[in-house]
Amino acid sequence: MTEQAAQSLTPKRASDSRTVLTDIVFPSDTNHLQTLFGGVVMEYMDKVAAISAMRHSRTSVVTVSTDSIDFVAPIRVGEVIIVESFVSWTHRTSIEVYVKADTENLKTGERETAVTAFFVFVSLGEDGKPAAVPGVIPETDEEVTLYETGEERYLQRRKRMDDRKNKGH
Ligand SMILES: CC(C)(COP(=O)(O)OP(=O)(O)OC[C@H]1O[C@@H](n2cnc3c(N)ncnc32)[C@H](O)[C@@H]1OP(=O)(O)O)[C@@H](O)C(=O)NCCC(=O)NCCS
Repeated sequence: MTEQAAQSLTPKRASDSRTVLTDIVFPSDTNHLQTLFGGVVMEYMDKVAAISAMRHSRTSVVTVSTDSIDFVAPIRVGEVIIVESFVSWTHRTSIEVYVKADTENLKTGERETAVTAFFVFVSLGEDGKPAAVPGVIPETDEEVTLYETGEERYLQRRKRMDDRKNKGH
């Protein structure tokens, strides 16, 4: 896969990949503290992020990495969870998606960010091999900030991958 192949694709707006899932938290999804299990939130986030990645590439994608998952506030039983994602940065064949999970108190309407994360997907061609993806056009302040810092996160991931290979695990 060449850098030129990725550059020849027409870039797409970050907002074109924006995906939102809204659900209510039931007791069966919560722990003994009546807050949502971290794994349940991550499953929601992975699905929503994968839809964003596929809306961007219009190909099959696979998750290759997830990082910077920060659980900043609990998600309580009876609250609404709103999981939102968009493509924040791309490289040749990989797509970085920013995902945020907010809670909404249905009685007060109060909204709070509970979890944020980055998911990375690789686009696969018909032959099952990594395929070129379009670039991203950021528009909002949030999209621009995440776009401008995307290369730095990409390089950190590459370093982590190289370190792992060198250590043989
Ligand atoms: C996706 C896959 C086919 C890529 O194969 P590969 O040999 O790593 O291919 P490449 O080295 O050409 O890398 C392709 C891209 O993936 C990125 N990548 C691969 N592994 C990565 C990782 N762990 N973290 C971040 N990016 C990764 C590379 O940076 C590269 O991005 P770029 O083309 O934008 O620069 C292979 O890693 C795979 O099958 N992984 C398992 C995916 C899976 O099954 N996911 C489901 C969840 S279990």
